[in-house]
Amino acid sequence: MSLRAHNGDQLPPPKPIPRHKGHWLWGGTFDFQRNPAEFVLEAHEKYGDVFVTRVLTGQSYFIRDPEVVNAINVTHAKHIHKPKVVKQMWKPFLGNGLVPNDGESWKRQHKLIMPAFHKTRVDAYAPTMATYTRDMVRGWTDGEQRDFQKEMMELTLRIVAKTLFDTDLSHDSETVHEAMGAIIEALIDHAQTPIPAPRWWPSKRNRRMVKALDAMDGVIERLVAARRREKKDRGDLMSHIVFATDEKGSMSDQQLRDELMTLIFAGHETTAQTLTWAWYQLATHRDALERAQREIDEVVGGRPIGEDDLRNLPYLEMCLKESLRRFPPAWIYAREAQADLRLGDYFFPKGAILAISPLATGRNAKYFDDPLDYRPERWTREFERSLPRGAYVPFAAGPRVCLGKQFAMMELRIVLGTLIQNVDINLLEGFEPDFVSAISFNPGERGMQMTVRFRDGAPVRTGDGSRRQGVSSTHAA
Ligand code: HEM
Repeated sequence: MSLRAHNGDQLPPPKPIPRHKGHWLWGGTFDFQRNPAEFVLEAHEKYGDVFVTRVLTGQSYFIRDPEVVNAINVTHAKHIHKPKVVKQMWKPFLGNGLVPNDGESWKRQHKLIMPAFHKTRVDAYAPTMATYTRDMVRGWTDGEQRDFQKEMMELTLRIVAKTLFDTDLSHDSETVHEAMGAIIEALIDHAQTPIPAPRWWPSKRNRRMVKALDAMDGVIERLVAARRREKKDRGDLMSHIVFATDEKGSMSDQQLRDELMTLIFAGHETTAQTLTWAWYQLATHRDALERAQREIDEVVGGRPIGEDDLRNLPYLEMCLKESLRRFPPAWIYAREAQADLRLGDYFFPKGAILAISPLATGRNAKYFDDPLDYRPERWTREFERSLPRGAYVPFAAGPRVCLGKQFAMMELRIVLGTLIQNVDINLLEGFEPDFVSAISFNPGERGMQMTVRFRDGAPVRTGDGSRRQGVSSTHAA
């Protein structure tokens, strides 16, 4: 362990790290599994910004100290990889796609896929996002009950398929959702079982997962075969992945499958959960909803929201930032130290698992006053500037920052803005969601039940600001 800083100065000895002892044999394993988010939040309150416990056979360090979070994400990222156990967990599903990949292979794939996420490309996706959201709302009937979470899963899947792959997945939507459900169940099982059953083990859950993976592979094969048959590079991400070559040639069929699976998965689940929690919070904070409605009515009226409008909708963005602070869908992510490391005031040995929870960082009262309150107003420019790096990381940061961050922030604003514009955000009377911290933070099997109520009684306004059925908006007051 080096006790010298980069400039050669002697560093003070590292601070001791409090230990959560837990069970004599399993350490914190079962405490973590019982209710992962609750465990992490409570343990941070009890032990402070860094603590350690044994999870399965390894030492896991839980970190919400911004300086250390930033060192892991950014300044020391090259000494820190994705953990082997996490790669193993993803392997049957995402293979060697961007999320679990590392090293030279990750660099190559990242370079190949990144152009699809350049700002000019992403801006061009805005009209599709607005159109698909308006189509969805047009399919709703006033007074009916719907599961908002399910609606968001379908919508975000359609958006990612159209924008990134120029494909309509609506016919495959049931297959994809069912498959995703089975795969996620298997992943949770894998993450929660000390010695998970191998894939060939003939359990009911394994059979369901293998069937789900076959179904997803079928969808992906069809997408790739159709593009190859066309033999035409349309300039979109799909063409890039199917036709792009570099000095090492083109991507293998297996890598291609892994990347498409990764983008379908990473590109819709998290966004759908964020929208679901943003909806929940606006439904339960009428004053914030009314302020967001006023802003949209004044700036956009009834026409579709475009990319140009977004800079004039600061309150909408504040609502989403606050939502991502309180309920970040990627509520925890992990890394593995590739060497002994001195990060901030602490020492972490080679092989240590370093777990960062955006949920725990977002609820740290040192940086967020009244952290349990929903207060979009806190997100002023000055406040953001005053936050230390590493204090707010819903998309991670540094080289492994979410590749879809700009895409997601635009999609979130356009979808939520269009909803605020057209429907009265509410929960079904008496409904309270569950708070489930699995692979993502989500409202569980009961979803997010709501009653469809159009603002002014008619679905989706026309371009001139009036309602389709001729009633003009009165909400700008
Ligand atoms: C609100 C929505 C989203 C949130 C909160 C989110 C969050 C995250 C986080 C925390 C990571 C890092 C995970 C880790 O290192 O273990 C990540 C990685 C990633 N995300 Fe997102 N994400 C969102 C939406 C999206 C979208 C829309 C896409 C694609 C269209 C996307 C694609 C990716 C990819 C490809 C990676 C891996 C990047 C790499 O390691 O090179 N994400 N995301």
